[in-house]
Amino acid sequence: MVKVQNIAVLTSGGDSPGMNACIRAVVRSCVYHKLNAFGVVDGFNGLINDNLIPMGYDDVSNILQRGGTILGTARCKEFHDPAFRKTAFENLKKRNIDGLVIIGGDGSFKGAAIFSEEYNIPVIGIPGSIDNDISGTDYSIGFDTAMNTIIHAVDNIRDTASSHHRVFLVEVMGNNSGVLALNTAVSSGAEEVFMPEKKEDLLEIKEKIDRAVHANKSSIIIVSEGDQVGGAKEVFNYLQEFGLADKLRVSILGHIQRGGSPSYLDRLYATLFGEQAVACLIQGRSNLMIGVLDGQVVVSDISVSQKPYEIKNMHYLKLIRKLSVY
Ligand code: F6P
Repeated sequence: MVKVQNIAVLTSGGDSPGMNACIRAVVRSCVYHKLNAFGVVDGFNGLINDNLIPMGYDDVSNILQRGGTILGTARCKEFHDPAFRKTAFENLKKRNIDGLVIIGGDGSFKGAAIFSEEYNIPVIGIPGSIDNDISGTDYSIGFDTAMNTIIHAVDNIRDTASSHHRVFLVEVMGNNSGVLALNTAVSSGAEEVFMPEKKEDLLEIKEKIDRAVHANKSSIIIVSEGDQVGGAKEVFNYLQEFGLADKLRVSILGHIQRGGSPSYLDRLYATLFGEQAVACLIQGRSNLMIGVLDGQVVVSDISVSQKPYEIKNMHYLKLIRKLSVY
């Protein structure tokens, strides 16, 4: 087994709170084991453009509590092209980099796994995405902070909703996954949730809102940006045809969901995952994803992340309904 000596770390895809804490854990673990650490700027773009910076102990001081990613991130289309991956490899080879840690989502892991196979470079994936929709792990870095940001925003909306006896359609992120929406709905006491994994009975929902409006009650409806109707504005357009527009308001939370200082949970998992990734590379292991299952940090083959993600707690839907009957 050839001993790993130079490890590069990059963040890829949408940023998420806790990515900095994870970069810190990777770099500090390298320092501890007397390995050289490099930060790759702007995700896979940095590999292609040869934008790598040596990182030491001080470079990751005072970043654990900061949102975003100090390395910058991107969704890199070029990395799908074998010619650009070759350039990326040559840039790694120049510096004798013999281990790569990718903090990102399943799309980033797919590219990383292909790269690893093509050039025999050890790769470890760390799930980082507010969407928390990666197969093989119960948790991805950023989810808890995003959830806290969202429920605080919904709390604020509820204040004004109840004062005006209005119904709010609150749109949350999540891309093609309803994880954020479903968990928001339960933990903010919403009356209804729209999400990609669920076919909506629009007439039934219209009647529910009608009842709320006639009873002069406020309601919160969480709409996932990827839901089957097409987002909160589309749901609004449908409902306004029934003369409900006066009592309805739309609030799209947008990118505030992705920012902010990481929560306790995000700092914890980011740190555990980062340390574990370096430990795996030191053991000569590759093509793995670090994750958490049933509360335990686990290491799986990175290919598990490519399976379609299935929401484990769809039964929350019944609970949301049960608790909103009056
Ligand atoms: O994957 C994270 C995420 O925030 C999704 O929830 C959302 O659909 C997407 O990124 C937005 O990406 P961008 O910032 O590129 O518009």
